Amino acid sequence: MKALVWCAPYKVKVENVPDPKILNRRDAIVKITSTCICGSDLHLLDGYIPFMKPGDIMGHEPMGVVVEVGPDVDRNRVKVGDRVVVPFPIACGACFFCKRQLYSCCDNTNPKAYLGEEMFGASTAGIFGYSHLTGGYAGGQAEFLRVPFADVNCQVMPEDLTDHQLVFLSDIFPTGYMAAQHCNIQSDDTVAVWGCGPVGQFTIRSAMLLGAGKVIAIDDASVVPERLQMARDAGATTIDIHDEYVYDRLMDLTGGIGPDVCIDAVGMEAHGGSFISNAYDAIKTNLFMETERPYVIRQAINCCRKGGTVSIPGVYGGVSDKIPMGALMNKGLTIKTGQTHVHRYVPELLDHIRKGRIDPSFVVTHRMPLSEAAKGYEIFRFRKDGCIKVVLDPAA
Ligand SMILES: NC(=O)c1ccc[n+]([C@@H]2O[C@H](COP(=O)([O-])OP(=O)(O)OC[C@H]3O[C@@H](n4cnc5c(N)ncnc54)[C@H](O)[C@@H]3O)[C@@H](O)[C@H]2O)c1
Ligand SMILES: [Zn+2]
Ligand SMILES: [Zn+2]
Repeated sequence: MKALVWCAPYKVKVENVPDPKILNRRDAIVKITSTCICGSDLHLLDGYIPFMKPGDIMGHEPMGVVVEVGPDVDRNRVKVGDRVVVPFPIACGACFFCKRQLYSCCDNTNPKAYLGEEMFGASTAGIFGYSHLTGGYAGGQAEFLRVPFADVNCQVMPEDLTDHQLVFLSDIFPTGYMAAQHCNIQSDDTVAVWGCGPVGQFTIRSAMLLGAGKVIAIDDASVVPERLQMARDAGATTIDIHDEYVYDRLMDLTGGIGPDVCIDAVGMEAHGGSFISNAYDAIKTNLFMETERPYVIRQAINCCRKGGTVSIPGVYGGVSDKIPMGALMNKGLTIKTGQTHVHRYVPELLDHIRKGRIDPSFVVTHRMPLSEAAKGYEIFRFRKDGCIKVVLDPAA
């Protein structure tokens, strides 16, 4: 089959690779119909997440049709012919963490758990196509995907909605939703969202679905004007980091107290800090004394109102420096974060789609053949051609 493989930092390509096979009795094979490129994939492309090997198949946002199931798959839950979305974390459904719906913390699906234990004190769940740190599983930017614990990880979808309405249930819609739901949003709350990429777009809309009084979206209009426009189309007020002082504007918009909720939907590759903070992060990351640029976390903590919540869906993988602990502690802030527990949100979000409260297909700007995936990465990585979200089509 064809699949997009990681070759080295900044280099991915589509290759012919062996078809996946049923390896365990609860596996299924899914024939992919739509599969997306995520901001998280850019962290692999840019070499920020360690433990990738040349030839690893990438991709963790797929959907398709089940073509084969192992003998122990519960056929009342999933069977051959079902149309399914596959959440990016791989869950067993039965461990301590899965029973508490903390699916991205599953204790049974990461065969390389020792790496996570060394880096984080405990490992994450396995994640499709996301390095050997999260299990070394083949990803979904491919024609076929092996799905372990298929009766837990294949989410059966209705036939009457389109792929573009459903495929984002694999990651970015639940991710935006969890980031907002973590903050116990009240009707008079102001929610500030840093980053208007695909995750930011779903965070903005989720904050609105959850009843936020006002949503403020922050990004760089000199690089991605379309993203700020999309945020305005959703009803958000926008701040352009290229032209405006974020702290001052947020204070103006909140009567001088700061937003109740600040959400970092940017992650470890933030840009746009002051000259000094950029130089500081550049020097420290180049010397391997820091592995990421936590500029947005610093700013969100400084801007958040006293007693407010800072939610971090943006991905961080190692150690960050100069996190303002004094501000965090003295202002009494709450931090919420995590890889998304996707499975937990699928039924609720499918209901929002069904009832017409949101149509997730708004975010798609590019649908391309899987064979052109490397070009898709280039367009998404460099925000060319008004790119917000790329969906790959293995059948094209
Ligand atoms: N927690 C999870 O489970 C989960 C799931 C999916 C994605 N993510 C993470 O969410 C983050 C966003 O993903 P995406 O697909 O939207 O990525 P993306 O790269 O398309 O979007 C990031 C946006 O942030 C903007 N940005 C950069 N610096 C900024 C700054 N200082 N202030 C404001 N905006 C700034 C960029 O211009 C860009 O539009 C990534 O870190 C990704 O890994 C997390
Ligand atoms: Zn993703
Ligand atoms: Zn589990």
